[in-house]
Amino acid sequence: MAETKAARVYVTRELPSTALDLLAEAVTIRVWPGELPPPPEVLLAEAADVDALLTLLTDRIDAAIMSAAPRLRVISNMAVGYDNIDVEEASRRGILVTNTPGILIKTTADFAFALLLAAARRVVEADRYTRQGRWKTWEPQTLLGQDVHDATLGVVGLGGVGLEVAKRGRGFGMRVLYCDGIRKLEEERRYGLVYVELEQLLAESDFISLHVPLTSETHHLVGERELSLMKPTAVLINTARGPVVDQRALWRFLEERRIAAAAIDVSEEEPIAPDDPLLGLDNIIITPHIASASVATRLSMAKMAVDNLLTALRGQVPPQCVNREAVRRWRRALPR
Ligand code: DGY
Repeated sequence: MAETKAARVYVTRELPSTALDLLAEAVTIRVWPGELPPPPEVLLAEAADVDALLTLLTDRIDAAIMSAAPRLRVISNMAVGYDNIDVEEASRRGILVTNTPGILIKTTADFAFALLLAAARRVVEADRYTRQGRWKTWEPQTLLGQDVHDATLGVVGLGGVGLEVAKRGRGFGMRVLYCDGIRKLEEERRYGLVYVELEQLLAESDFISLHVPLTSETHHLVGERELSLMKPTAVLINTARGPVVDQRALWRFLEERRIAAAAIDVSEEEPIAPDDPLLGLDNIIITPHIASASVATRLSMAKMAVDNLLTALRGQVPPQCVNREAVRRWRRALPR
């Protein structure tokens, strides 16, 4: 399985051309040309003869796909999250799974903070107001928002993105609380962050920003109980994964103004259903999973995904391998 033109790779979407060209120089590629993800039956058929898949977070890679792909040795996901892949199943079969961590941290944090500011100061609503011809004069009481400076920011999950959001909060003069499975004493000292339990964070924060991966433990981490602990003026930001928040409960709390506002870049179902009741509310901003969508970052992600894939096809374990437990089985399948 050396890196040769003989190795076949299926890429599930058009990528920035610089990255795709790098891949095409090294291996034989087929690329799904559609704007939407390849339908499952296409993916099943295309997987049949490939050594590697280059996937996006919208592609569900499960046991059925892996069974249909006897030669498959690496799944390179162009995302830091990999909850779209059955990693346990891949490990059982000696298939390496890789992701693209690190490079999207600051871009994602910028966007989370953009959502925070936009929700606090009702930027999207104000834009609609202007376009609807409702701006008649300067009004003392119209579109009043909340101050960000001096407010309390609660960061749930102090990984790379969480820490960058916390730093941005400190830059805006916010008090920053965080909760995490692991207490980060060095970051606390360096950036002036305060470690608290989730309940305290929810009760004391004016803005709550979520930065946890989606796992069975974080599914509906924010539900009815957690929302009821928040201040009525609280603003919830989710740039992590949709199912981390119970969306029905969120709708109820926003509709009844039991929390002030939310801004979400991710949704339990993606894309959000056109009849989702959240779309009928003024006090939520909903963007289409674009937190990492800067030109530079998307190119870096694509290049890293290509690099991971080629590294594995050359018989080396990519640094961004997320299932090291698969390596022994994967090595056994390499040609000697
Ligand atoms: C990821 O990489 O997991 C992000 O959600 C993409 O923006």
